[in-house]
Amino acid sequence: MVISHTAPQKIRSVLDDSRLTITDTEFRQLREFIHAHSGIALSDHKRALVCSRLARRLRHHNLQHYSDYYRILTEDDPEGLELVAMINAITTNKTDFFREPHHFRFLAEEVFPAYRNNPNRDRPLRLWSAAASTGEEAYSLAMTALEVMPSFNERDIRILATDIDTDVLSRAEAGIYTREQAGQIPETLLHRYFLKGRGEHEDQVLAKPILQSLISFRRLNLQEEPWPMQGPFDVILCRNVLIYFDKPTQLKLFQRMAGMLKKDGYLMLGHSEAMYGLVDLFRPVGHSIYQRRGKSVS
Ligand SMILES: C[S@@+](CC[C@H](N)C(=O)[O-])C[C@H]1O[C@@H](n2cnc3c(N)ncnc32)[C@H](O)[C@@H]1O
Repeated sequence: MVISHTAPQKIRSVLDDSRLTITDTEFRQLREFIHAHSGIALSDHKRALVCSRLARRLRHHNLQHYSDYYRILTEDDPEGLELVAMINAITTNKTDFFREPHHFRFLAEEVFPAYRNNPNRDRPLRLWSAAASTGEEAYSLAMTALEVMPSFNERDIRILATDIDTDVLSRAEAGIYTREQAGQIPETLLHRYFLKGRGEHEDQVLAKPILQSLISFRRLNLQEEPWPMQGPFDVILCRNVLIYFDKPTQLKLFQRMAGMLKKDGYLMLGHSEAMYGLVDLFRPVGHSIYQRRGKSVS
């Protein structure tokens, strides 16, 4: 068995974490705080998850009790730095290239050709990846767009990729992935749009500048009002994030996103997310794809 020089420290952390327990009051306070600042709704069975994900923040501050950590968040965090670190620790960032491929097929077959073939085009195609995580979704959008419109550049296509989590955004912006992470990218696209690492980076790929030039990465909390950018967008992908929000929060977001879409623009949700009601704002046009109706939004 090979033990690296970091092993003893890791073992100590595990032991420390196992000594950390969260009381009912601590869990309730933190849950309410997290909900108020991110919209993430944590049910009772997420207690162990909160406990383990915040354990490293407690270690960082050398604390033994979640109540002391709560005190830092509420009384000793004037610049909101701990709030950002706490949210980074609590979010779930699972994603993949071309995840839920029917969305990318719909874009390649319907949305992008219509834009390319429109002779009256007078503005860039604007796409928003609204919970971008480590960037796979935004790079998949960029590849799909360029495959349909190979001669187009950032004047014609603009992708905004936002997330609340600053850690994942820095990784997204770097555009570096392991070959395993890049496994869902078809070989021809991988060859066309990524550089392969050499030597000690042999296991990595790097998004080429043409992809990176189409995408702007920004921190954005979907709960904040108003959002700092202006619409309208042609397509919004808000996938696999609504499941963390309660129903009133979801409903409000659908309404706000309707206001950010151009007439006839599209909203794409994750596979287990659906829009209910709001038939005057959106009509379903495919599996978890909704098209904005032409009416004005109140
Ligand atoms: C499971 S990932 C989904 C990534 C990608 N959209 C996909 O479907 O593969 C969910 C992302 O939502 C982000 N998130 C959670 N709450 C958020 C909020 N209030 N505002 C913006 N992003 C949020 C998390 O940081 C995380 O990266």
